[in-house]
This record gives sequence, structure tokens and C-alpha cells, in this order.
Amino acid sequence: MHFHIVTLFPEYFDSPLGCGLIAKARENDILDVSRINPREFTRDRHRTVDDRPYGGGPGMVMLLDPLVQALNELPAGCRKVLLTPKGKPMDQPLAASLAGETDLALICGRYEGIDARLEELFDLDLVSVGDFVLNGGEAAALCLMEAVARFLPGFLGKQESAGEESFSRGMLEYPHYTRPEEYAGLKVPDVLLSGDHGRIAAWRRQRSLENTFRMRPELLAGRLLSHEDLDFLKGLQRTRPGRNLYLALVHHPVKNKTGQDSTTSLTNLDIHDIGRVCATYGLGGYYLCTPLKDQQVLARRLLWHWREGPGAQANPDRARALQGVEVVASLNDAVEKAAGLTGRRPRIVATSAAATGDIDCGEVLQCLRKSPVLMVLGTGYGLSDSVIQEADNLLAPLRLLGGYNHLSVRSAASIIVDRILGDLA
Ligand SMILES: C[S@@+](CC[C@H](N)C(=O)[O-])C[C@H]1O[C@@H](n2cnc3c(N)ncnc32)[C@H](O)[C@@H]1O
Repeated sequence: MHFHIVTLFPEYFDSPLGCGLIAKARENDILDVSRINPREFTRDRHRTVDDRPYGGGPGMVMLLDPLVQALNELPAGCRKVLLTPKGKPMDQPLAASLAGETDLALICGRYEGIDARLEELFDLDLVSVGDFVLNGGEAAALCLMEAVARFLPGFLGKQESAGEESFSRGMLEYPHYTRPEEYAGLKVPDVLLSGDHGRIAAWRRQRSLENTFRMRPELLAGRLLSHEDLDFLKGLQRTRPGRNLYLALVHHPVKNKTGQDSTTSLTNLDIHDIGRVCATYGLGGYYLCTPLKDQQVLARRLLWHWREGPGAQANPDRARALQGVEVVASLNDAVEKAAGLTGRRPRIVATSAAATGDIDCGEVLQCLRKSPVLMVLGTGYGLSDSVIQEADNLLAPLRLLGGYNHLSVRSAASIIVDRILGDLA
């Protein structure tokens, strides 16, 4: 395979091309690399390759003509990759597919980037190596070249290694160990010393599933998994972050139609539907907060009916769904109850349909991996300002840009919980 690197800094690649497996592969004709400098195609005295951006603004933009001429030098049929932050994220399947090319050009931008018309003049694959900005495409090109080269026959010592690695089977890899057997009191897992290849393979498969489940659960979504894999993941789910998530449905203080603090009545629908969300996603608990004694009595009676009374006989499933629901007098009581269960004061995250938040669902999931979170939902016209001000965070509203986003609190609860935990967390 022949890589053609189009770069204003050909010397950037001297060291990486001259050492390790890439150097060996070049010696053994497994891959070839040429470097093409667009500066070679300039005609002016200063060998200019950039100019100021039309419309103003900071930085310089790479000129079209030297690049066009450089690309015209490429062999016919050469696939052309432009490294750019707006490109398709680089991943293992893309690396495997690029490894099938005979000639692959890697075009490296510099400065503020390249005149946009290059994308209209050539058929380019736009590729990004991550959501961050580098000084130039050279570091990105190196990343891509290494990932692709590992798929070339003969590049790796043992050809099977590329298929064993993270992402090759859509999952992260299992952990590796080498000598000594014990270091600073830390032992290599016994199974790896057993010599039993069947057990070792099963252990590695489970560690691979576990790493993926804990670090990148989205990679598992939509994968066809065996019954054994599913049983194993179900076991892991019992320790999932969802257990750390608690919901509080506040009936006081909440806003009324005119924006004043007031108290709302409980609704049967909110008790059942949010209770079922709690059970479905395996949350730690769901607190119905109302200071009104008659409302507390009513809610406890309803819960008794479904959990122990006639409702439980008729519909045991509903009894299970409502197991996690508890009636408390105030949000403070809910905080104390959750703290009592987890041994730590939960982070309090308020919700609102209106105000812009300071935390999103992904960040809440990160918090849940370490400590409990109490998600506070308001009834009536939303949580009163005092509740929002006293909370640790305010969740970014759902569909803020849509114009209308007035969901029932039980719909909002379902969507928020699903956005945080999805199917796998
Ligand atoms: C300073 S960057 C230009 C960034 C550009 N102004 C932007 O905001 O997208 C210069 C060059 O580095 C390369 N580059 C920077 N970050 C990259 C990334 N994450 N993936 C691939 N290439 C990248 C591109 O070739 C880009 O043209």
C-alpha cells in the first residue's frame, strides 16, 4: 500500500516513519510513503501557500492552487482523505476499509484550514481523529496511517493480533498482564495461570464485555449478543449507575399560573407512571414530596392498595413497580432518605422547561458512576425559584429550541431517565 502525505511539513514525519513497525514495514515493502509538499508547486518568489481569509477574521487560509497541483500529481484511482475536525470520526471499521486501497492520500491542513472549494474540486473523504483541534493535519495523518497499517498483511508480527484488539469486534479489549506474577501485592488473575484455554477465553470475553459496558456502553447497543453474554451483562446491570439515581416529585413549593409559590395535589398517574419508570430503569427510589397531611394519607393508601391490598393480588407486576415509591413531607426529607440509603448526600439536580441548565444528561451519568444524584421534578407550573437556586445543578431543558416544550412531568421524567441511562447504563 502506498501512502501519499500532502503536507507543508514533510520533515514532521521523519521520526515516526523511521522507527518501530512502520519503519520495518517500509523496509519489507509492506507499505510505502511519499511526502508531497504543496509549496513545491508555488510560482512566486516567496513560495506563498496561504493568504488572508475573505470576510476577515484571524489566521490564514491555505491557497487552492498549490494544493490542486499537488493533488493532480497523485496516481489515478488514489483515494483522498482530507484530515479535518468536521470529518467522519475515525474508527476501526474505517481503518479496515482504507487498508483495502492501493494508493491513499492524506491531506494535511494547516493554519485556519484550507480554501473550502478544494472539497468541490476533488472527491475527498473527510476524516476527523476526534473532537478537538490540532495545529495541523500531520498528527491526525499519523494516527490514521498507523491504524490503517495494522490491517496490512505482514505488518503485525502475528496477523491475528489486529482482530483481537479493542473495537475489532465492536467491543473494548480485555486487560493484559505479564511478569512478575505479583507486583506491589497485586496478583495476576489465577485463571490466566491455569493453562486452561477454554476458561481463559471465557474470562477474556467477560472482561471485554465488562470493560465495554462500564467505559463505552453505547458500543454494545444494537449488537447481537449470545445468551451467555446477555446473562453476564444482566449480572453487571445489578451494579449499574441507575441504582444511584433517585427521583423527587415536588408538590411544594412549586409555581402556580401567576408564577407565585403554591402547593399542588398529587395525581394517581404521576405515582404509577413514574413508579414504573423507576422500576424499569432500576432507580434507587422515587420520593413523592408533599407537606399536606391529607395528601400523604391518600398517597400511602393508594400505595398500600397496589403493594399489599387487593391491587397486589390482581396485578403483582404493579406491586413490584411501586416498590420504590415513598411519601415524604419535603424535598429535604427526600435528600435525607437518599443519603441514608447511600451513605452520601446526593447531588441535587433541579429540572425546568424554561431556564438553560448547567448540566446535561451525559454529565449526570458521569456523576452517577461515582455518587448518588437526586433528580428533582416539579408539578404545577414548575419548581419554585428557591428550589432551583438551592439545587447543585439545573438540568438542561428538553427540547428548549423547539418553541413548545411543555411536557407532563411523567413524560419529562421518562425522557430524562432514558436520556441519562438508556438501555445499558
Ligand atoms: C488549526 S486546524 C484548523 C481548525 C479549523 N479552523 C476548525 O475550527 O475546524 C488546522 C488543520 O489541522 C487539522 N486538524 C485539526 N484538528 C483535527 C482533527 N481533530 N482531526 C483531523 N484533522 C484535524 C486539519 O487539517 C485542519 O485544517
